[in-house]
Amino acid sequence: MLRAAAGVGRGYKRELMNLLDLQQGQTALDVGCGPGADLPELAERVGVRGTVIGVDRDPAMLIEARRRTTDLSAVEIREGDAHSLPVAPRSVDRAKIDRVLMHVVEPADVLAQLHSVTRPGARIGLAEPDWDTLAVDAEDLGTSRAFTRYTTSEVVRHATIGRSLARHAEQAGFTVETVIATAPVFLDFQDADHTLGLGRNLQQAIQDGHIDEERGRRWFTSLSEGSFFASFVLVSVICSR
Ligand SMILES: C[S@@+](CC[C@H](N)C(=O)[O-])C[C@H]1O[C@@H](n2cnc3c(N)ncnc32)[C@H](O)[C@@H]1O
Repeated sequence: MLRAAAGVGRGYKRELMNLLDLQQGQTALDVGCGPGADLPELAERVGVRGTVIGVDRDPAMLIEARRRTTDLSAVEIREGDAHSLPVAPRSVDRAKIDRVLMHVVEPADVLAQLHSVTRPGARIGLAEPDWDTLAVDAEDLGTSRAFTRYTTSEVVRHATIGRSLARHAEQAGFTVETVIATAPVFLDFQDADHTLGLGRNLQQAIQDGHIDEERGRRWFTSLSEGSFFASFVLVSVICSR
C-alpha cells in the first residue's frame, strides 16, 4: 500500500484546490477523504453557510478526520463506499477525489456515482499518480526498474490510472477543463521510504520472487546512504458536470 504524502508533493493539492474555485455557501464533497487533511481548507473556502462532506470507508481514517474537524461546524464526516456514495443526488457543487481511484474496485462506477451526486455546472477535481513513472535513483538501475514494475503490477490496483484520468472523466459524462501533470520530488530517503513504501514493498517483492533478496537488500542499503532522489508523475484533472 502506498501511503499519502506528508510534506512532499503538496503543491498539486494547492493547485487543485484553487482550480476547484470553491465559493462561500457551496456544498463540497471529498470522496476518500482519508484522515481529513483537506477538509479544513474546504471548510474555510465554503464558509459557515456552506457544507463539506467527507466520505471514506475506513473507520480508522474517519476517527482522525473527525478529530481534525471537530470545531468546524460546516464539516460532516460520513462512512461509506465511493461506489455507493451516502450523498443525495444532484446536491454537490464541488467535489474532489485525490489518490483514491487507484485503489477502488471499479473507477468508472465511482465516477458515475460522482456524476449522479453533483449538480449540473458542478466542478470536480481528480488527482491520481501513474506509478509506471516511479523513478528511484540507484547505481543498480535494474532493481529500481524491478521495484517500479512490482509496484505497478502487484501493489496498486489501478497503478497507471493517472494517464487515463481525463479519458475516464469524459466517459463518465464530465467535460474536461484542465489536465496537469506534476512530478513530486523526494530528496529525503526516510520521507520516500514512508510515502512510497520502499522497504515495505521491497520485502514483499523479495518474498514473491520478483527481486533477488541479496540484490534487493544491497539496493535498499545504497538508497539509505548518501544523496537520494525519487520522483513520479501525478495527474490532476479539473472537469465540469
Ligand atoms: C491515499 S488515501 C488519500 C486520502 C485523501 N484523499 C488525501 O488526499 O489525503 C486513500 C483513501 O481512499 C480511501 N478509499 C479507498 N477505497 C475507497 C472506497 N472504495 N470508498 C471510500 N474510500 C476509499 C482509503 O480508505 C483512504 O483513506
